[in-house]
Order: sequence, then C-alpha cells, then structure tokens
Amino acid sequence: MSVPIITGRAIVKSFGGRSWFGGADTSKRAVDTIDLDVNEGETLAIVGESGSGKSTLARMLLGLVKPTSGEIAYYGQAMSGFSAPDWAKFRKSVQPIFQDPASSLNPRMRVDTTLANVLRRHKLATAATMDSAIGELLASVGLDATQFHDRYPHQLSGGQQQRIAIARAMAVRPKLIIADEPLSSLDMSVQAQILDLLVSLKTSRNLGLVLISHDLNVVDAIADRVIVMYLGKVVEAGPTRQVLGNPASDYTRSLLAAKLVADPRLARERRLAMEAAMGKHPQSTIQGASP
Ligand SMILES: Nc1ncnc2c1ncn2[C@@H]1O[C@H](COP(=O)(O)OP(=O)(O)O)[C@@H](O)[C@H]1O
Ligand SMILES: [Mg+2]
Repeated sequence: MSVPIITGRAIVKSFGGRSWFGGADTSKRAVDTIDLDVNEGETLAIVGESGSGKSTLARMLLGLVKPTSGEIAYYGQAMSGFSAPDWAKFRKSVQPIFQDPASSLNPRMRVDTTLANVLRRHKLATAATMDSAIGELLASVGLDATQFHDRYPHQLSGGQQQRIAIARAMAVRPKLIIADEPLSSLDMSVQAQILDLLVSLKTSRNLGLVLISHDLNVVDAIADRVIVMYLGKVVEAGPTRQVLGNPASDYTRSLLAAKLVADPRLARERRLAMEAAMGKHPQSTIQGASP
C-alpha cells in the first residue's frame, strides 16, 4: 500500500513570457505537463541531463516556486490553497538538501547555532535539552559534537558541510527529503559516505526521498522508482529495475550508454547524434557545461 505524500498533476513551469503588443510567445517550458506521485517511505529518483527541468520540478515540489499551471497536492490538499499554518506544517515535513552545502549554510553561524535555531523554532528542544539534542543530531550524521559544535561552515570539509545540512533537515523529523544532486559538489571519495548516510537515515526513519541525480549507478543502487526527464517532459517512468534494466525509450538507453562515456567531447557528439535522432533542434537543447 503506497500512500502518496505529494501528487503533481499536469505541472507546468514556464519562464519568460509572451511579449506585449502581440509579439511572439517567447516563454519556455522548463517543466512541461508532468504527473507524479511521491509515496511514503519510497525513494524516487529523477534523472535526465542538465537543463531537463529536474531542479525546477524539485523547487515546485518544495513549494519554493509556483507552477505556471497544474496542481501539486500534499496529502491530497492543494498547495495553491494552503493557509499560513498549512505552509508551516509543509515546510517542516518536506525538507530540501541542495547540491552545494556551503551556500545552503549561513557562513557566519556556528554549527550549534544553526541546529539550535531550527530546534527552537519548531519547539523540539528547550534551553535545558538543547545541548543534548544538538549532540544527538550531530551523532546521527556521524559527527562528534565535542569536535564540531563550535565550528563555522568554512572550517568544515564539503562532506562535513553536507552532513550539517542533512542534520538540519533531519532535526524537524520530516516525512520527505527532496535532495537535488546532493553528491555532485563532493569529492568522489566522500560521495559514497554521504549516500550511505542518506540511505540509512531514510530507512531508519521511513522517510520518502526524492533524489535528483545524473549518476545512474547511484540511482540503480538506491531508487525504488525512476522518472526520466528530457526537455521538461517525462520520457519514461517506472520501477528502477524496469527503467534501467530494460529501458523503453532511446533516451534512457542513451543516458545509460553515457555512463560509459568519460570523454566530454565524445559525450557531446553522442548527444548531438541523439538529438538529431529525436528530431530536436540542437540550439534549443544544448546546455553549457555538465551539471
Ligand atoms: N529562473 C529561471 N529563469 C529562466 N529560465 C530558467 C530558470 N530556471 C531554470 N530555467 C531554465 O529551465 C530549464 C530547466 O532548468 P533546470 O530545472 O535547472 O534543469 P536541470 O536541473 O535538469 O539541469 C533550463 O533550460 C533552464 O535554463
Ligand atoms: Mg539542476
């Protein structure tokens, strides 16, 4: 029995807009009519190359960006009709983790202050219990409180910063984590550790996890279901084993093939060939550097 936490129906996000005086419509759909469900306790991966609309979709699911059209609901309640208390509850239950932990942490705030602010705001600790609550949180992300509580973000490695960002997200006991490329800014050697941490927290707390990643090995290892996006649309969706093991679309097959292409020039050639095969206009799809 899967209980949906978030349901999205025909979600669209356009950027730019129709110019005045009847000019051409210059708007561009970053997310183009997407349906999705995110279920309790499930890991849903969203994959697709840079510019396919993954982050825009994530921001809408987090309530940070309003859809141009369509509807997103949280436990069946439309977000467009949220009251202030609804938003407060939602903001607590659905937590983001971003790619760059340094920019998601306040550089002038010590680790313990960052965590204390969250715990206090949500009344999860009192002055008397604060130190032990912070200690527990740090321990839950594999950091020793005595060593780390008084550090500032710049005194931490990228992996440690991401652990703090995860601790902050976990502090409010969320139902769902939405992680947008949470490993991409980290050293290879650290990526597996942070992934392990996310997966073990997710499992022990029965969280839902939306994982945006371009690393199909990671997706293969941890996701229950996969959504493949291309130019704002869902190309393919289904159980991980099915989508990655026996992809129905050429696009997914090409993403899988790209796992093996380390040379960026080859990757670009492959992409051009793929876009030609899909009948897309290259200029409209080619993004700059890799994510
Ligand atoms: N704030 C914005 N203003 C204009 N265009 C945007 C904005 N955010 C994203 N886009 C465009 O929307 C498309 C999807 O971007 P994004 O959601 O960041 O994709 P991804 O995360 O898959 O790389 C891209 O073409 C991007 O340039
Ligand atoms: Mg992105």
